[in-house]
Amino acid sequence: MSKVVEVENLVKRYGSLAAVDGVTFSVEEGEVFGVLGPNGAGKTTTVEMIEGLRKPDSAPSGFSESTLSGSRSGLRN
Ligand SMILES: Nc1ncnc2c1ncn2[C@@H]1O[C@H](COP(=O)(O)OP(=O)(O)O)[C@@H](O)[C@H]1O
Ligand SMILES: [Mg+2]
Repeated sequence: MSKVVEVENLVKRYGSLAAVDGVTFSVEEGEVFGVLGPNGAGKTTTVEMIEGLRKPDSAPSGFSESTLSGSRSGLRN
């Protein structure tokens, strides 16, 4: 098993609103991983940052590519 997604201290702000406020988790290859929370908790924003659709404000350097195993293009089909 290897990590296919690794997120550490992910932050996204919209003005004064912290939509995602320091989220850390990893997902193993083959793991079924759910993100639960009420409306507005930041689930969609988190997933869309991992997908590269929204730009994070703060994350370890290289978040957008190096924390995904394999290339982004390899994730699409
Ligand atoms: N483009 C945006 N501009 C301003 N605020 C946003 C934007 N997208 C999401 N938000 C706010 O960020 C918070 C998290 O939203 P979202 O990620 O959609 O939550 P969830 O998917 O868990 O319901 C909410 O308060 C939402 O209103
Ligand atoms: Mg949502």
